[in-house]
Amino acid sequence: MSSFPVTRLRRLRRTAPLRSLVRETRLDLDDFVLPLFVGPATDPNAALPALGRLAVDDLAREVEECAGLGVCAFLLFGIPETKDEEGSGAWDEDGIVQRALRELRPRFPELVLLTDVCLCEYTTHGHCGVLDGDEIANDESLDLLARTAVSHADAGADAVAPSDMMDGRVAAIRAALDEAGHETTPILSYAAKYASAFYGPFREAAGSVPSFGDRRGYQMDPANVREALRECALDLAEGADVLMVKPALPNLDVIRAVRERFDVPVAAYNVSGEYAMVKAAAREGALDERQAALECLTAIKRAGADVVVSYWTKELAAWLV
Ligand code: PBG
Repeated sequence: MSSFPVTRLRRLRRTAPLRSLVRETRLDLDDFVLPLFVGPATDPNAALPALGRLAVDDLAREVEECAGLGVCAFLLFGIPETKDEEGSGAWDEDGIVQRALRELRPRFPELVLLTDVCLCEYTTHGHCGVLDGDEIANDESLDLLARTAVSHADAGADAVAPSDMMDGRVAAIRAALDEAGHETTPILSYAAKYASAFYGPFREAAGSVPSFGDRRGYQMDPANVREALRECALDLAEGADVLMVKPALPNLDVIRAVRERFDVPVAAYNVSGEYAMVKAAAREGALDERQAALECLTAIKRAGADVVVSYWTKELAAWLV
């Protein structure tokens, strides 16, 4: 291999067209998913616009506008009017996500509608499964999660995305979907989901701050990567179609490891705290939001994600034209 002065890496960096010609990673809106929150409407969230809650009508308008910009996939989260110990709003046939899907599905057959499957937005205690004393009961939660997934598929979801981190949920959901005749509905599993500080803004938006304790008894320890690969292997064995790593930016090495180990589509969730950090820094005048966001999203793709869930998806649509 030659070296300086024969080799000068700056030659291909001299102009924007040259840089573009040799760029290794590109952002394509087709790979991006926009999360949306449906529930009792709140005032728009000025600091974090993508984390606002929308009533069903407003949700339909927002989806229409985003689709007009080229956004093609959405991940729906529901915030119910009332919560209970079990989170029964999650599988209610007339629940908030189910109503949203029944509104959106016929109007937007061309869009991908994904749903988050979890109990935390629906339980009074804010945990992702049902309680047994102060413990989050694993096996007792599976049936409720499976019922939730089936009700989403019944209402028109293209795929379901369990984010609860109970052991065995993918198998329970796969069996229940198949039993209900939804054998063609894919499962996008939040397979490697870490107990992370970066979910803070989401929990405010979704009203799912746990009323006691934390989620470390079911979400993963951020120190572990081999365990993430075990989670992925188990989810695949149970029938997951897509593996997701979350959060994205603190775990680029995990995305890379999952990409290299498994031949299924890999998704990454660029979570609320990652979005909020850049927004706050931009507001302070410390950095340029667009440039920082594009750098973050490019890094997530470069690490190996095929699909990226990001609150910047709508803005990205405008940035990419
Ligand atoms: C529900 C769920 C959470 C997120 C996605 N699904 C919150 C949590 O686990 O506490 C976080 C998303 C984000 O921060 O953007 N279990």
